Amino acid sequence: MQKIINVAIDGPAGAGKSTIAREAARRLGFVYIDTGAMYRAVGLCASRKGTNMDDAEALGRLMKDFDLGIKYANGVQRVFLGDEDVSEAIRTPEMSMAASRVSAHAPVRTALVELQRELAKRGSAIMDGRDICTHVLPNADVKIFLTASIAARAGRRLKELLEKGENVTLEEVTADMERRDYNDSHRENSPLVRAADAELIDTSDLSLEESIEAVISHIKEKTKDVL
Ligand code: DC
Repeated sequence: MQKIINVAIDGPAGAGKSTIAREAARRLGFVYIDTGAMYRAVGLCASRKGTNMDDAEALGRLMKDFDLGIKYANGVQRVFLGDEDVSEAIRTPEMSMAASRVSAHAPVRTALVELQRELAKRGSAIMDGRDICTHVLPNADVKIFLTASIAARAGRRLKELLEKGENVTLEEVTADMERRDYNDSHRENSPLVRAADAELIDTSDLSLEESIEAVISHIKEKTKDVL
């Protein structure tokens, strides 16, 4: 039987993690597991139900009957709440902030981390998020911390949002991103930090293709005895 390879990628919002991880996974024939999407689904559910996103107990109750479905078709992840495919609905600036808020609370993290570890056991995968190297998969075969300057990250996110027809400015996107960086790296539960054994890849001056190649070449280097 072929060995299961787990690649863990952490980094701040807008570093290109999901685009790079999705494409690297496709080229390697791995599944891409997007953990941010799971926190976004909790944010969407909390916002629809009017749950206070700063109340850990209320979020704990919400998680008890939180009906999350994660499905993969050709390595692409779709996210469901019950029967509803919410893969697009979770991609708004409001849901980015909601995800960041709900993700600070232990009951939310405990439930999602359990699911993430279960998914990683099923087959070779690249999983990205904020605490994958440090907490979810501390024994991953490959660990990467993917980052970029705030100017590069905000510029890319602005382009993405404008292409989707959202009405936002660079100042708003930068302020949102700085707030999210602060929340994600200062919370008590599994804050975003670079694991000591994670390879640092800075994509500020790299094109998308160069970033994908940098990630793939690090994965190949680390797994050359098994891949
Ligand atoms: O990667 P993303 O932008 O989709 O993540 C949305 C939010 O979810 C992010 O601001 C923090 C939270 N998150 C987390 O706390 N832990 C993860 N493993 C992934 C995301």
